[in-house]
Amino acid sequence: EEPRLQAISQAIRVVPHFPKQGIMFQDITTLLLDHKAFKHAVDIFVHRYRDMDISVVAGVEARGFIFGSSIALGIDAKFVPLCKPGKLPGEVISEKYVLEYGTDCLELHVGAVQSSERVIIIDDLVATGGTLSAAIRLLELAGAEVVECACVIGLSDLKVRSKLNGKPLYILLEPRQVENGH
Ligand code: PRP
Ligand code: MG
Repeated sequence: EEPRLQAISQAIRVVPHFPKQGIMFQDITTLLLDHKAFKHAVDIFVHRYRDMDISVVAGVEARGFIFGSSIALGIDAKFVPLCKPGKLPGEVISEKYVLEYGTDCLELHVGAVQSSERVIIIDDLVATGGTLSAAIRLLELAGAEVVECACVIGLSDLKVRSKLNGKPLYILLEPRQVENGH
C-alpha cells in the first residue's frame, strides 16, 4: 500500500498562498493528470467499500464529484451529487454550514436517496470538517444511513472526527503523508 500512497501524494501539487495569503492549496488536478495515481486512489476506496453493502455514493461539489462518481461505478452504487445552492433544478433539501467567513450551503434532490439506504460521503479534502458535517446532516434528513465519510486528503487532527456526529472518517493521505509528499 505504501508505494501507492506515495504515488498519490506526489501527484498532488501544493500551491502556496492560493486562493489567499497563508493557504497551502492542495491541487488535485495534477493527480487527475496522472492516470495511474488517480486509479490507485479510486481503487483503494473501491476495495474498502465494495463489500459494505453501500447503495449510494454522495459526492460534495465540486471535487467530490470526480472521486465519488468513479468510486460509485467501481462498487456498483448510485452517485448522488451534494451541490452548492442553486445548482439543482428539482425540489431540494438544504443544510447550511459555517465557514471561516460567512456561511455556505449544500443541497440534495428530494428523492435521490431512499430512506435507510447505506451511503458513503466523498470529498477531496477535509480541513475543519464543517462541510462533511453538513453533508451528514443533509443525508440523515433524507433518512439515509451514513456509513462513513472519506476524503483523499486530511489536513486536520482528530478534533475533526468529533464534529462528524459519531460517523467514521477515512482519510487516504493523513497530514503527515501530505507533508512528506513534498
Ligand atoms: C474545500 C474542500 C472541501 C472543504 C473542506 O472546499 O474541497 O470541500 O473545503 O473544508 P472543511 O473541512 O473546513 O469544511 P471549498 O469550501 O473551499 O469549496 P470548493 O470545493 O467549491 O472549492
Ligand atoms: Mg469543496
